[in-house]
Amino acid sequence: MTTHLHDKIFESFIDEKTINTAVKNLATQIYNDYHEKEPVFLSILNGSFMFTSDLLKNYHGLCLISFIKLHSYINDKSTGNVNSLIGLNENIEGKTVIILEDIIDTGNTLAKIIAQLKNKKTNEIKVCSLFFKPDAYKKSIPIDYIGIKIPNKFIVGYGLDYNGLGRNLSHVYKLKT
Ligand code: IMP
Ligand code: MG
Repeated sequence: MTTHLHDKIFESFIDEKTINTAVKNLATQIYNDYHEKEPVFLSILNGSFMFTSDLLKNYHGLCLISFIKLHSYINDKSTGNVNSLIGLNENIEGKTVIILEDIIDTGNTLAKIIAQLKNKKTNEIKVCSLFFKPDAYKKSIPIDYIGIKIPNKFIVGYGLDYNGLGRNLSHVYKLKT
């Protein structure tokens, strides 16, 4: 199965069932580690909206949810320049913060987020990413919870876009080469 977005063709890569299993596993792991701490889930928009929703429906403990919006991609290449668009307003002092990312590629976005949280006096910061490209990762920040490791390919679907399109696809597709 293929899908056409702008000028590019994408082919089926990861099905909905595989994604749902990975999301449930992440929810269970985080619940086991943090349900006594009432964590703050910090969802990174736009890409993480679908992941955040599904993860939290499977997280059966007390928690808080907050959102920040960042952007680092132009077309299908990371610009390396990460701009914060919407900042964090909530007080997270003394809290356990769990960052929810759709995908970690170079790690530039993650490093920027962690830097922004530095002066917030959090108790601890953990990182959870649904998708992770180990071969593209350039940082040493540990990624505590990883759903699915993928090769260094450009993917769309399940929240991830190519120039705005593809976020609503329930399966994940990869760029056809
Ligand atoms: P990084 O800063 O290079 O780690 O990239 C992180 C952000 O770039 C993610 O939160 C996504 O928004 C976007 N991104 C990275 N890889 C992909 C991809 O394969 N498809 C769509 N967006 C991606
Ligand atoms: Mg993102």
